[in-house]
Amino acid sequence: MRIYTLSGLLALASFTFADVTYKVVGFPDTPDGYFGVLINGVLTPLTTTPETFPLWTGTVVGAKAYSGYRYLKLSPKGDIIQREKFLRVFQNKKAISTENEFFLREVTRTALPSLPQVYKDSRPKPSKAFDETQIATINLTPDPAAFADMVANPLDEERKAIKAGFRFISADTVYSAGEIKLKVSGHGSRKFKKLSLRVKFDDDKGETFFDRPIIKLRAQSFDPTMIREKLYIDNLNSIGVKTTQGAWVRVFVNGKPYGFYLMAEDIEPPYLRTTVHGGADVPEFGSLYQMGSHVLGLEATLQYQGPKTADYHPEIYENKELGANTKEEPMAQLIAFLKDLQEFDPSVGNGIKFWNARLDLDGYLRSMAMEYLGGAWDAYWWKGNNYFMYYNPLQARWQFLPTDFDSTFSDGKLNDVATTYKKFAARRLARPGKDHPLITKLIYKNKEINTLFESILLKITKDLFNPKVLEPRIDAYEKMIMEDVKWDYSLDRSKNPGKTFNFTIDDFHNSIKGPVSSVNNGIKPWIKYRAEDVPKQIKTTTVSIGLKTRIR
Ligand SMILES: *[C@@H]1O[C@H](CO)[C@@H](O)[C@H](O)[C@H]1NC(C)=O
Repeated sequence: MRIYTLSGLLALASFTFADVTYKVVGFPDTPDGYFGVLINGVLTPLTTTPETFPLWTGTVVGAKAYSGYRYLKLSPKGDIIQREKFLRVFQNKKAISTENEFFLREVTRTALPSLPQVYKDSRPKPSKAFDETQIATINLTPDPAAFADMVANPLDEERKAIKAGFRFISADTVYSAGEIKLKVSGHGSRKFKKLSLRVKFDDDKGETFFDRPIIKLRAQSFDPTMIREKLYIDNLNSIGVKTTQGAWVRVFVNGKPYGFYLMAEDIEPPYLRTTVHGGADVPEFGSLYQMGSHVLGLEATLQYQGPKTADYHPEIYENKELGANTKEEPMAQLIAFLKDLQEFDPSVGNGIKFWNARLDLDGYLRSMAMEYLGGAWDAYWWKGNNYFMYYNPLQARWQFLPTDFDSTFSDGKLNDVATTYKKFAARRLARPGKDHPLITKLIYKNKEINTLFESILLKITKDLFNPKVLEPRIDAYEKMIMEDVKWDYSLDRSKNPGKTFNFTIDDFHNSIKGPVSSVNNGIKPWIKYRAEDVPKQIKTTTVSIGLKTRIR
């Protein structure tokens, strides 16, 4: 009691009274429940509005930034339902307001160890939608019955989007949209209990969600760490490959926990505008194709199969933007590229010049270096899956656009991915009718492009893809999302249709440092293995070419 009085007097002596505003995101257990902030034993109720729910705020007269505080969840009668176990403190002792914090999460922002920019940065202008230093909260408010019916039938890919209200609350922003369109997203991921969702804003009404009007909420069902996809995006950013950005979010549906997600962009016109064209005014987009291998046994190999659109499976090569094609022959432009690829003789010189005129070769080779380094078995190189080809009309050539990076670092079969890049390429050639010629002709067989590829692979390995550079970032992510992954794994999805790997929080930690039940490689050992192995592969190659030259 004496100490309390003394500190109160001291405070009075050295500071004038200030008011501090407290802001916390939280969902009460019942509609009339609420939140409060506890400072020096005094509870102040916080309030919310229909425009800001579930953000609870209150200004506490006489509170000071050096006072410790904690948030409480309260029943309608004011009984304490849950109380934060940790004491919160301001970093900035002169602050007059908190950021928008989240109930039961001690850290709002994480200072992430930066990664080097190995090649020129090609990221779009930053958007508040993708502030990677924090975990924002999304509350979707669809009609409960329509939503329940949609997620009970996730395999229905033709189902029309349903309407929902949308609210996004980050540390410094509340963004609301009255009516967004909501769908289940993905192909393979639809077979899982935790579904991925697609959100489309009405940009005609000016609802552009910080210039990112189409987003996906990716469930990351295959990855016990939920870190792999984000880390892969970080790597692409570092090596200057244009990629969809991503940030983790907590998702609620009508105030009920739905899960911890990676919010990412979708490759659609808004992405072409902001990222591929860097925000430049493009009168008309070029043609865009989405490639997938989601029809049993088929792969988007990029082999020439004939001159007509009908020669190509429409689900393996899907035209998304018509560009300079006719409606009757939407594949025509891509087919011309495939024909060039078929006719290209890799044994001749001038490979770089030939392909640079048709393809952003540097961007493509860096994407492939990353597929190899990341052991990305579900991408173009190995599986003919998860990529787009875009005809950039301003450059008059093609761009390879990678997407969906959850199957990386690497959860593939060890025999497939834990091999040299040359074997990783040669094995695509060995399967009758299933060659991936953009790999085998360019990277594997054309000497000039092969030398360029090796120099890119080696540079990325030395400057970025190694434990020294990547592990601090992984460690920061592990701390940053641990509580939210635990929360996700505690949610009961047993009544949902589909599969689950039943990952636990132990799997989360263990899959960073080693194998777990359904994932062969830990993230860290995988990076270490590749970082040590790649220089050996390329040194050997140089020596053998040197020997051959001498023998000749
Ligand atoms: C997950 O747990 C359920 C219920 O115990 C079980 O039926 C299912 O086989 C498990 N899935 C895997 C991949 O182990």
